[in-house]
Amino acid sequence: MKYFHSVGNVRDLSSLVAKAREYDREPLLHPQKGKGLRLGLVFFNPSLRTRLSTEIAAQNLGLTTIVYSVQKDGWSLEFEDGTVMNGSTTEHVKEAASVLGRYFDILGVRTFPGLTDQEVDQQEKIWNAFCTYSKIPVISLESATLHPLQSLADLVTIDKDLERKTGKGLFSSGSTRPKVVLHWAPHVKPLPHCVANSFTEWALASNAIDLTIAAPPGYALAPHFTDGASLTHDSSEALEGAEYVYVKNWSSYESYGQTPPVQDDWMLTESKLRHSPDAKIMHCLPVRRNLVLPDELLDGPRSMVIDQAHHRVGAAQAVLAEIIGAL
Ligand code: CP
Repeated sequence: MKYFHSVGNVRDLSSLVAKAREYDREPLLHPQKGKGLRLGLVFFNPSLRTRLSTEIAAQNLGLTTIVYSVQKDGWSLEFEDGTVMNGSTTEHVKEAASVLGRYFDILGVRTFPGLTDQEVDQQEKIWNAFCTYSKIPVISLESATLHPLQSLADLVTIDKDLERKTGKGLFSSGSTRPKVVLHWAPHVKPLPHCVANSFTEWALASNAIDLTIAAPPGYALAPHFTDGASLTHDSSEALEGAEYVYVKNWSSYESYGQTPPVQDDWMLTESKLRHSPDAKIMHCLPVRRNLVLPDELLDGPRSMVIDQAHHRVGAAQAVLAEIIGAL
């Protein structure tokens, strides 16, 4: 693997989940694997989990890491080709990414969508520029449309919990496909679609999950990510019999980046889960308490949100190990 951006970059999904779980059990299994190699982590946006879990994962494999916060420390970058740079940008990504490609053996890049121009965000300009000009392997730490390290950690979390509950993981023979609901939640501002797109993509590619996406009218995700999932505007119907409920806000895709008014109360509560006694709650974090999810669910026994964040380390380590193996 040279690039890790979408589930399409993964050769064998069940093996990658198994590898992430192996590193979760034994983080120092291969402490020399990345010795002598340098990982550059380029952040255009803030992060707690992605930054720290990827650094820890790299250290567990013996890699040296350097974090570069572009907004805080760096020159403002230009991404348009052929532009006269007489405005606010100081350096073109052609030079910046090429230089980083000489300094590092592997790059990680985090960037959020602008949420103003659907076409621009779908083109993944920043991600593609770093891949093209650095010429070295690149890992997505979240991009304009996807968040693959989060999705790998999410599948690890479900796999492990399912095995605890039934004795069989997602990819075990004879395993029953758990009902998973990706459930929209309210928020105070427009958020990207990345986590929801990515989880949908990975859940469908696993062939091991029965996925329903529940969202209010106006909040359908991009159809090229959701083809194959059940879609509904009826939250209570979706929640019935759910084993895992992945709660997430996202802005409108159709009215791109907007937040059309929502009639019903979409914040999940314990009482709304009365017909799903075994349902576990997921969220990628950070989460706004009592807006996206109430204290009673985040602090209660249904919550798996800390496990998801924990599994980010093993997920990043499995991906780094695979990339190092292909160098
Ligand atoms: N879930 C996630 O990516 O968290 P951070 O934004 O803190 O990295």
